[in-house]
Amino acid sequence: MAELSGVLVRTAVFLMVEVLVQGGAVQSPDTQVGCVFGGSCVLPCRFQPNGDTILHWVKRNGKNVQVHSYYDDQDQLGYQDPLYKGRTSLFHDQISGGNASLGLARVNLQDQGRYLCYTSTSQNNQEAFVTLTVRAPVTKVDIVLGNNNVTCQSGGIYPRPQLTWSVSPRPSTVLQNTTEVHEDDRGLYDISGSLRTVYNDTESTYSCSVQNEHSAKKAMMRPLPPMQSAPNSEVLLPCDASGLDDITWTFNHNQTILRRQAGQEKVVETEWQQHVRDLSESGSLLLYVTSSAQSEGTYRCTLRYADEEDVTHIELKILEDPVAEGSHLTLPMLQIIVFLTISALILWLCMVKQPRLPFFTTGYLFQFFFFGFIFIVFLLFCCCNAQLIASLI
Ligand SMILES: *[C@@H]1O[C@H](CO)[C@@H](O)[C@H](O)[C@H]1NC(C)=O
Ligand SMILES: *[C@@H]1O[C@H](CO)[C@@H](O)[C@H](O)[C@H]1NC(C)=O
Ligand SMILES: *[C@@H]1O[C@H](CO)[C@@H](O)[C@H](O)[C@H]1NC(C)=O
Ligand SMILES: *[C@@H]1O[C@H](CO)[C@@H](O)[C@H](O)[C@H]1NC(C)=O
Ligand SMILES: *[C@@H]1O[C@H](CO)[C@@H](O)[C@H](O)[C@H]1NC(C)=O
Repeated sequence: MAELSGVLVRTAVFLMVEVLVQGGAVQSPDTQVGCVFGGSCVLPCRFQPNGDTILHWVKRNGKNVQVHSYYDDQDQLGYQDPLYKGRTSLFHDQISGGNASLGLARVNLQDQGRYLCYTSTSQNNQEAFVTLTVRAPVTKVDIVLGNNNVTCQSGGIYPRPQLTWSVSPRPSTVLQNTTEVHEDDRGLYDISGSLRTVYNDTESTYSCSVQNEHSAKKAMMRPLPPMQSAPNSEVLLPCDASGLDDITWTFNHNQTILRRQAGQEKVVETEWQQHVRDLSESGSLLLYVTSSAQSEGTYRCTLRYADEEDVTHIELKILEDPVAEGSHLTLPMLQIIVFLTISALILWLCMVKQPRLPFFTTGYLFQFFFFGFIFIVFLLFCCCNAQLIASLI
């Protein structure tokens, strides 16, 4: 008997919902709700409480889609559309107080549309509409400097965003620029733009703004003139921050060197700890550079603000010393040749020019010690470069 009455109640309710909705009775205006993509939100609905409550949330987009039902003091999800499975909830403890609001989790773009909140008690029936729109705000804009262009990109945005460039100082001509927008499989937009710049320009700053109706973010690129440094030395990479800025230094775009958040100590990545000597109040980085293979590349100082990121871009070149580089082989070889030549010359002078010098004269002693000295130096030299000599033989 109870089952039968339950079925009757349900059938009656569905028919009523249909009639009410199709009938287009005079309604109060829809409540507008904006939900963030991927987040949770509440579709508000209030009614006059009076004992037993029957409650239906139905989405109206051409046809009725069952979102959530409640009667006999419990959720009734047998007819719930699979699109809403596991994502809806009511505030059960507040239904008796007239709160029929619906909680919706993991919001996606298909959830957009008009929802009917239908409530029925022994005293009266009520309906209210909620229009749900979804937004995915611009969260981050990446800007990268190329040889003769600046590129900028952002993603996961809804509704469709726009991208605009501004250049300071204002260029005399319009700069060639392109923008591409792609829709991903979730219906969100990725956007990227490229601006042709003057070749190797280090006078201008470039700003890229990505925005839609609900949000906007900006990224600014400030290229500095390329810098040079000797290997195994310290170099000061400038940045223009204040002590309160959130600052990050990166190398070759994907390696973080360090980060200093407002009012906190800097955090240096393990592999950079040997290289970072100091970070000044203004964010300038004193770095110990080694070889071109290790330290040459792009250094970027990024300052993060609420709606903007400012990037300072520095190309660092390490000038290897060609003599120091080649010395392992050429210099000792040169020394050997010089030693051998001088020795041979002196030997020849002694043997040929003065063959009949009497024994124990000062001249003879001088030559004896001189030769001995050279011989010992030569031996020492050979010992020290044993490896080299071995490789030569
Ligand atoms: C219903 O209750 C929830 C949870 O306390 C609250 O967030 C919401 O604002 C209430 N809605 C209305 C319309 O009172
Ligand atoms: C920008 O310049 C880089 C090289 O500096 C190049 O690889 C890239 O294709 C350029 N992008 C556009 C959109 O012109
Ligand atoms: C980008 O191109 C558009 C037209 O193609 C132009 O109106 C705009 O001024 C350009 N932007 C810059 C910064 O030159
Ligand atoms: C621009 O910079 C690149 C690399 O830094 C360099 O190879 C090129 O010669 C420069 N071009 C001009 C015109 O200065
Ligand atoms: C950074 O990118 C380069 C290529 O652009 C790659 O070879 C390298 O493995 C990347 N490093 C990290 C830490 O992701």
